[in-house]
Amino acid sequence: GAGWPGLIEAYRGRVAVPDGARVVTLREGGTPLVPAHHLSELTGCEVHLKVEGANPTGSFKDRGMTVAITHALAAGSKAVICASTGNTSASAAAYAARAGLTSAVLVPQGKIALGKLAQAVVHGAKILQVQGNFDDCLELARKTSAEHPVTLVNSVNPVRLEGQKTAAFEIVDTLGRAPDVHCLPVGNAGNITAYWKGYSEYAEDGIISGTPRMFGFQAAGAAPLVHGRPVTEPETLATAIRVGSPASWDGASKAKDASGGLFAAVTDDDILHAYRTLASREGVFVEPASASSVAGLLASAADGTLPPGSVVVCTVTGHGLKDPDTALSGMVEVEPLPVDPEAVATALELR
Ligand code: F0G
Repeated sequence: GAGWPGLIEAYRGRVAVPDGARVVTLREGGTPLVPAHHLSELTGCEVHLKVEGANPTGSFKDRGMTVAITHALAAGSKAVICASTGNTSASAAAYAARAGLTSAVLVPQGKIALGKLAQAVVHGAKILQVQGNFDDCLELARKTSAEHPVTLVNSVNPVRLEGQKTAAFEIVDTLGRAPDVHCLPVGNAGNITAYWKGYSEYAEDGIISGTPRMFGFQAAGAAPLVHGRPVTEPETLATAIRVGSPASWDGASKAKDASGGLFAAVTDDDILHAYRTLASREGVFVEPASASSVAGLLASAADGTLPPGSVVVCTVTGHGLKDPDTALSGMVEVEPLPVDPEAVATALELR
């Protein structure tokens, strides 16, 4: 066959697109669910990683963007706009390029990882670096789209979540059941809202008999949902989730409450520890924000909130290559080597 068709085709009937619309796809979705042996051992649970960095632009945002750009094109839109901590802008830029649309992206100046900026550049987005944070950018993007002929493709556009909910379908289709617990990083809170919608739809249709408890983890310096109020100056090295006033606040709260889940904060140190553990023990390279789901997994196993023996899925939302600076900050400088096999053997302590 022609392989994985992309999520709109794979879940026809579950993801609505306008009749006769040209589907704008990079064959996103169909990402691996990878058993995490080391994390399972550490927690006494059966842990799986939903590796969303395997999407075409390296993050889960492609799931929402294939749907949003398909709708924008069908509606005759010529331009799209978004606010972003980096991944949404990379995805919007790529899908807009494929559809022949113009894209404009508003990003917080100096606070987006290098790989994400590179993506917006090569895909030809109009990049506006704003002297403010993500929340300021989103406000600007909303105002601009309300007053000008340009379509907003942030997750406040409900069709984004329709695409993102398919990750829950894929997990169930792979495991043959729903997990007991689902751990997610939470920033603007669209993704946890979307997963809950996906699980709920499968439950309503009798495909699963129960839904997972949704565990949402925020960075300690950017944890409005944990504190129950917006954070005016969010701060974390996990720049993807440096969000103080999540747009999908209500959806996330509903997901937590209806599922018997929780919100909790993880420190930047916890995030970095999980980031390194994932890379060095599981072979899975993610960006820092993505590791917050695993930091939360480890913390909730340690404090007893996570029942031993649970089947757990942690979504790791974006690829590690997005943020080379964080990766290289762990590098130890070594002397360059002469072209000499003896020197190699010595350097590797092989004799
Ligand atoms: N992980 C990564 C890698 C992200 O880029 C984001 C959000 C999240 C987790 C959180 O997902 O916002 O649905 O709760 N990034 C947005 C962006 C804000 O602009 O790319 P969320």
